[in-house]
Amino acid sequence: MKLPLSGYVLAAVLIAAGTAPAFADGAAVYNANCAMCHNNMAPKISDKDAWAPRIKQGTDALVASVIKGKGAMPARGGKPGLSDDDIKAAVEYIVSKSQ
Ligand code: HEC
Repeated sequence: MKLPLSGYVLAAVLIAAGTAPAFADGAAVYNANCAMCHNNMAPKISDKDAWAPRIKQGTDALVASVIKGKGAMPARGGKPGLSDDDIKAAVEYIVSKSQ
């Protein structure tokens, strides 16, 4: 019965991989994927005036904007490999630095 057992192991690995980013590190995601734009162009991180009206929309709306893209920002900031959790963590990081 080796085959069914390895099937269970594979399933367990896949489930573990799928749930891994539960504690995505917002600062790390931001620095690797978003900083090249948001450190240099509007809306710049820590520019409270630029972020105030955006933050008012709520985190969920901001996360949705990043997932589908907005204006000059490509969907998922141009990184299709980022999970929704990664993006949410990065948005929360930006918000924490910009209000
Ligand atoms: C190619 C440059 C670029 C990258 C990379 C990028 N952004 Fe943006 N981002 C922009 C621009 C430009 C806007 C302004 C869009 C507009 O309002 O027209 C924006 C807007 C936003 C907003 C406000 C959305 C809203 O609804 O007002 C959030 C939040 C945001 N970015 C988060 C992120 C996060 C998180 C990442 C990394 C995963 C990221 N961005 C990567 C250029 C970028």
